[in-house]
Amino acid sequence: MNYSKRVMDLYENPKNIGKLDEDDQNVGTSVVGSPSCGDVIKFQIRVDDGGKIADAKFKAFGCGAAIASSALVADWVHGKSLDEAQHITNTEVADYLSLPPVKAHCSVLVEEAVTKAIENYLSKKKGN
Ligand code: FES
Repeated sequence: MNYSKRVMDLYENPKNIGKLDEDDQNVGTSVVGSPSCGDVIKFQIRVDDGGKIADAKFKAFGCGAAIASSALVADWVHGKSLDEAQHITNTEVADYLSLPPVKAHCSVLVEEAVTKAIENYLSKKKGN
């Protein structure tokens, strides 16, 4: 199986790896795992006072496609509203990275990670 140049570039030089302060009320955190392969992604967003995503970080214990998809989506969500971020689909990610079908679930995992990070942020806000 060959990965595209975009996957290789993001895999070899992944942007947005790291972590944000989980206790920060403006940070939403998710940890999602793929039942089919056992890989895990931790994804975090920080939302500014205007409701836009000011920062996003991830850690991926997974394959090249999961790492590249996470790095890409962490980049894409920057500056977006929660609604806009929610509308990033795994097919957009898979198309952009030219992921082979056998790796489609890796981009699904990242889509789920974004959704759950947003949910976590919103539930923190509700708790206030
Ligand atoms: Fe598990 Fe890619 S093979 S996330």
